[in-house]
Amino acid sequence: IPVERFDLIIFGGTGDLARRKILPGLFKRFADGQVPDGSRIIGAARSEMDRGEFRQFAKDAVISAQGDAVEPTVLESFLEALDYVTIDALGEIGWSELSEKLQGDSVRAFYFSVGPSLFDDLAVRLQKHKLVEPDTRIVVEKPFGHDLETAKALNKVLSAYFDESQIYRIDHYLGKETVQNLMAVRFGNMLFEPLWNSQYIDHVQITVAEEVGVGGRGGYYDKSGAMRDMVQNHLMQLLCLTAMEPPAKFDPDAVRDEKLKVIRALDPVEPHHVVRGQYSETDDEKGFRDDVENAKSWTESFVALRCQVGNWRWSGTPFYLRTGKRLQARDSEIVVVFKDTPHSIFGAEAGGARNELRIQLQPDEGITLKVTIKEPGPGGMRLMDVPLDMSFAETLGDHADTPDAYERLIMDVIRGNQTLFMRDDEVEAAWAWTDPIIQGWEAVHDVPKPYDSYSQGPTDAMLLMQRDGREWREIGA
Ligand code: BG6
Repeated sequence: IPVERFDLIIFGGTGDLARRKILPGLFKRFADGQVPDGSRIIGAARSEMDRGEFRQFAKDAVISAQGDAVEPTVLESFLEALDYVTIDALGEIGWSELSEKLQGDSVRAFYFSVGPSLFDDLAVRLQKHKLVEPDTRIVVEKPFGHDLETAKALNKVLSAYFDESQIYRIDHYLGKETVQNLMAVRFGNMLFEPLWNSQYIDHVQITVAEEVGVGGRGGYYDKSGAMRDMVQNHLMQLLCLTAMEPPAKFDPDAVRDEKLKVIRALDPVEPHHVVRGQYSETDDEKGFRDDVENAKSWTESFVALRCQVGNWRWSGTPFYLRTGKRLQARDSEIVVVFKDTPHSIFGAEAGGARNELRIQLQPDEGITLKVTIKEPGPGGMRLMDVPLDMSFAETLGDHADTPDAYERLIMDVIRGNQTLFMRDDEVEAAWAWTDPIIQGWEAVHDVPKPYDSYSQGPTDAMLLMQRDGREWREIGA
């Protein structure tokens, strides 16, 4: 779908997200010829900066994200599309200047790359200065609230100024290539969907493991923890796409309606089905409490839980979710584990294993289907499992140069396609499910289980599965 000429205004244009993701992402789309002539990217922030300085900021950002791959002449013409306004979200500075810069006949999008406490002020001033047209879009980032109440309050603020069709809530996991491939695999093949239910699937495991610790974000993270930072949004989205019914069409509301039904169908999680963890200090590495500079922190850097989508399709098939920082490897995947064949004609001693469909998101993207075959050789009928392996990089060659999540999502904003963005009711339903889990911990002063850095997480997370006679796939294997 072609992209129309646009004005993209980035509030917080000199911030970390603009530097790491938004500007490099826009550059890549520009280099691919997807930014129409006359489009403009306007940084707007408090910093006193002129256009030249902002261009230099963007140039450094692109080079540091893409390294040597950057073609200097292409970069120079990209920079020509950039402009900057010093703006005060809480006052009057900069708003008339911004208004003068906007073109009447372009798609207009405001990216709120700022803390949610500024949403209200920005929205008020955008309206006051008549910068919002019926087709104007606004983009907001997580954290979208801290719990159900704050999420509702944020939705209320935004809905006072914008129609839901103008609001693009980013969950960058939805922009990842393999996440969308999950939908293609499920709904573009005849092979899987008939088996996609509790009659044939034993369980599903969703893992988003990170090797990094909390880095420089200790202040934010200590107040949030893995449940709010990852489970409420990213893991929940992966769960929804895995569990949802086929939407009638690949269109925004059809997809989001189906995802919402999954969240609403989730049973409350039993306290003994959740494990929280926190990485401990080792001889060479700081522990979580040092990283967040809070010696008494009880915040979790790891969560594993077992949940149940309480509907006809999934009754009896548990979903196990797990995410954490400072684990053995960066390794994210969805593994759909099928049931045993109802009867083995070869006898139990022949071996063989269950079918498993593994959709790998990170670090490499790919899909593997584990199937059972005969072990080669003249002996008797011995079975073994082999992967039918599709690494995107190997199979697709040049086509495997997948766009970063942000590149795709920003272009979807310009195209006006909300399919990969979260709707207000979806975000609220996700909080409504996570809030009681967190409140349960708070009520009993739950202490997270310590785990070693670069390990598989706390032992209790292993037991969570073992008690059910199941096992996690090894992180980093
Ligand atoms: C962010 C979280 O939303 O996602 C971070 O706030 C986390 O804590 C990050 O590190 C992970 O994203 P990715 O794309 O690197 O898997």
